Amino acid sequence: MKDFRAIAISGASRGLGAELARRFAGPGVRLLLMARSEAALRQVAADCAARGATAEAVVLDVRDAAAMQAALAAFEVGGPVDLVVANAGTSFGTMPDGRPEAASQAVQQVTVNLVGAMNLVGPVLPGMLARGRGAVALVASVAAFRGLPDCPGYCASKAGLLAWGEALRAAHCRRGIAVTILCPGFFDSAMGDRFLGAKPMAMPLAEAASRAETAIRQGKGRAVFPSTLGWLLRLLALLPAGLGDRAVRVMRFRVRPEEAGPG
Ligand SMILES: NC(=O)c1ccc[n+]([C@@H]2O[C@H](COP(=O)([O-])OP(=O)(O)OC[C@H]3O[C@@H](n4cnc5c(N)ncnc54)[C@H](OP(=O)(O)O)[C@@H]3O)[C@@H](O)[C@H]2O)c1
Repeated sequence: MKDFRAIAISGASRGLGAELARRFAGPGVRLLLMARSEAALRQVAADCAARGATAEAVVLDVRDAAAMQAALAAFEVGGPVDLVVANAGTSFGTMPDGRPEAASQAVQQVTVNLVGAMNLVGPVLPGMLARGRGAVALVASVAAFRGLPDCPGYCASKAGLLAWGEALRAAHCRRGIAVTILCPGFFDSAMGDRFLGAKPMAMPLAEAASRAETAIRQGKGRAVFPSTLGWLLRLLALLPAGLGDRAVRVMRFRVRPEEAGPG
């Protein structure tokens, strides 16, 4: 099990990112916590400090590459990052009234969920490669495995993140870089609450965070939980297109849009 001393986490103001920040916090650990909601982020930083960590809260949008680069450079003045967790994510989908997701919402999900992760990993990866050590964790989803009719942009963003992460892992694992791609199914969080409809095999936030933490500390290449849901979607992706489409149409749900947030 790996111990990490300097950790950067995006989307740390609530949900999985906040839970992971608290779990990684401890004496001698430095944390860089990033998100847009200042008060919530500061509260998570205070929780981490109470566990003995030094936690810096930086309010930013992961779509802002320059702000991400500046925050990471300032943090690395105190020593190199040894783990980055690209967790920030957003979701849209078919609205409760049945209106399909707009193309602009698909673009927003790809920009936050995929490009935002690239904006986090990009600035630290060259240093990790030069040192011959470092860990990268990417929070994708089981939605990466097969396009689902009610959340096309979300599936695209997570499939892109999975493909990018697999490529990074294959390219750099023999140079001391551990890339862990996390593919959770449904879990309880603000995002989970906005998915309306059946949520098969949903898990509590604490369980999802525990599975994610263990996979990252073990340096696993990929962690899919619950694995049954992951296998099901991967098998559906292997079916002839028409058959697969028919099968996923059973998984209908609605997504309550995020209330106008901090940015
Ligand atoms: N919940 C599920 O069922 C589920 C299932 C599979 C995968 N996931 C993935 O797990 C990750 C965590 O999700 P969660 O359920 O914990 O969601 P959540 O409670 O809604 O938290 C999302 C986090 O991302 C941050 N964020 C969103 N847009 C951002 C932006 N533009 N810039 C910076 N930060 C941003 C939010 O902070 P601010 O709003 O303060 O910026 C928040 O801290 C996401 O990548 C999600 O796609 C979730």
